[in-house]
Amino acid sequence: MKFHVLIFAAVGLSALLCGCANAPGRPAAGDTPIVPSEITDFNVLYGQNCAGCHGNDGKGGAAIALADPVYLAIADDTVVRHATVDGISGTSMPAFAQSTGGMLTDKQIDVIVQGIRERWAQPDVLRGANPPPYSSSQPGDASRGLVAYAEFCSSCHGAGGRGGEKASSIVDGSFLALLNDQELRTIVIVGRPELGALDWRGNVPGKPMSPQDVSDVVAWLASLRAKFPGQPYPNSAKLTGAVQ
Ligand code: HEC
Ligand code: HEC
Repeated sequence: MKFHVLIFAAVGLSALLCGCANAPGRPAAGDTPIVPSEITDFNVLYGQNCAGCHGNDGKGGAAIALADPVYLAIADDTVVRHATVDGISGTSMPAFAQSTGGMLTDKQIDVIVQGIRERWAQPDVLRGANPPPYSSSQPGDASRGLVAYAEFCSSCHGAGGRGGEKASSIVDGSFLALLNDQELRTIVIVGRPELGALDWRGNVPGKPMSPQDVSDVVAWLASLRAKFPGQPYPNSAKLTGAVQ
């Protein structure tokens, strides 16, 4: 008699346990939310924090391509890390580190910086070419820059930089207010390959831009910055003055 009671009890208990495991509403293993600061998967981190501006696969967004081996050959990890941690003042690039008011831990920043290089760099992409340095402390000269602009850029961006058939205006005050000088420099050196803008070697076939050309063109663009972007009068007066 006692024995039967035991068996019934055991069967009952196991039925109860099984029932619990499948109980409606009980979270399954994959349902447990992951704490955002614990995420260490590059694709998730990049997708949630960077893809919106730099494009799903590191290109094709409004901001420059990070999946650009020429960019990654010129900008080292210190540059990429610094931009990610601190953001870039004078642009819409936000600061991401917790220490600078963002959401990402140091470890997550490491994952992003390393992941960008592992996936998108090609160590031999420049094959001995000698690119202009990423940054320069030598100030450029705006009037020489206007001459360099005519030689290297006007074929696409049109007279005075106001836009041509192949590329848009780069002298609009509202546009220039979105990029600081270093970002203009980066774009002049590496281009926007996915949009048809070539790097410093490609604007005039067989004649790469010299480091001085790059600094001068950037100085010229910077000289066109409007003091009050969005207000047409001072800006258009300046533009008219710049066109020769
Ligand atoms: C809100 C838009 C936005 C988001 C989000 C964003 N960026 Fe940027 N980023 C920019 C802009 C704008 C620039 C300036 C260059 C340009 O306009 O293309 C920039 C520039 C950079 C540069 C520097 C390029 C240089 O000159 O060396 C790096 C590196 C970079 N971003 C990495 C990242 C990473 C990594 C993430 C995600 C953690 C990220 N960005 C998220 C907008 C964004
Ligand atoms: C072969 C044509 C071509 C030449 C030459 C060229 N660009 Fe561009 N550039 C483009 C295209 C295409 C884009 C992207 C689409 C657009 O802005 O119209 C672009 C974009 C840009 C941008 C804006 C990037 C952005 O985030 O919107 C800047 C700044 C720029 N070019 C500067 C220059 C400068 C300075 C020169 C000369 C040193 C130059 N380009 C030469 C075709 C060219």
